[in-house]
Amino acid sequence: MPDHETLARWLLEARSVAVLTGAGVSAESGLATFRDPEEGLWAKYDPMELATIGAFEREPELVTRWYHWRFTRARDVQPNPGHHALAQLESFLTARERGCSIITQNIDGLHQRAGSQRVIEIHGTIHRWRCTKTGREKPLSDLSFDRFPIPSDHGGLMRPCIVWFGEMLPEQALRDTFAALERCDLFLSVGTSATVQPAASFIEIARAAGARTVEINKDATLNTGGVDLALRGPSGVILPRVMEQLDELASAMPSGDT
Ligand code: OAD
Repeated sequence: MPDHETLARWLLEARSVAVLTGAGVSAESGLATFRDPEEGLWAKYDPMELATIGAFEREPELVTRWYHWRFTRARDVQPNPGHHALAQLESFLTARERGCSIITQNIDGLHQRAGSQRVIEIHGTIHRWRCTKTGREKPLSDLSFDRFPIPSDHGGLMRPCIVWFGEMLPEQALRDTFAALERCDLFLSVGTSATVQPAASFIEIARAAGARTVEINKDATLNTGGVDLALRGPSGVILPRVMEQLDELASAMPSGDT
């Protein structure tokens, strides 16, 4: 049986699905990944100079400009067929009263723009910024990006609500993530190199909770050897194909059986 059909069958059987996504899912929208040896952001820029609180304190203008640039990139691109297929998967499962959570390391908001409802942003979002003094967030529409760094109303600076290296992950997001991992009986790891903790360990937690594990990635990763099924290729091609198969299988079943 082709791999995408196996996955479609597993999705049909699943009671609760958790999907971990990474930068690879947004690559086909035109956003760079981090660890591609040529085009990856961390191949071109030093994360310690841009993605730490120390870097922001030393060079607030540079760091703010860089995240403003990433914000405009995220704003100006469109969700791709991989994002849309995951939104479709959530609708499919929700209609059958089954669980579906997307746990994303991406800060670009593209899952939500594709229509996904239950998205846990474990690395935060580039679409919200907060004051370094009060922690108070301000709607982006109230921020003017004509001066860098951006002063807050309370004598601090505005910074993106994302998780920098060395910072804690948002508590609620972590709680929601662990609940989804404990609950799931099918775990998909999509478009992530699975090198950054704690996301890199989510697959182990899901496996220990009894879930089947699947990887969808253009390349092999540290996870590949241990998963129950690995589908190799772009997520924007594989996920729509799996959804097509899932719809076919579901419509071939007697009503009430799906
Ligand atoms: P990486 O750049 O580490 O990995 C992206 C993965 O996606 C790689 O395994 C690629 O082979 C794969 N890939 C690329 N294009 C793809 C496509 N079209 N379809 C499927 N797979 C594709 O990005 P992440 O794993 O997301 O954290 O990185 C994790 C974290 O590291 C990020 O959230 C960020 C970074 O440092 C912070 O900034 C805190």
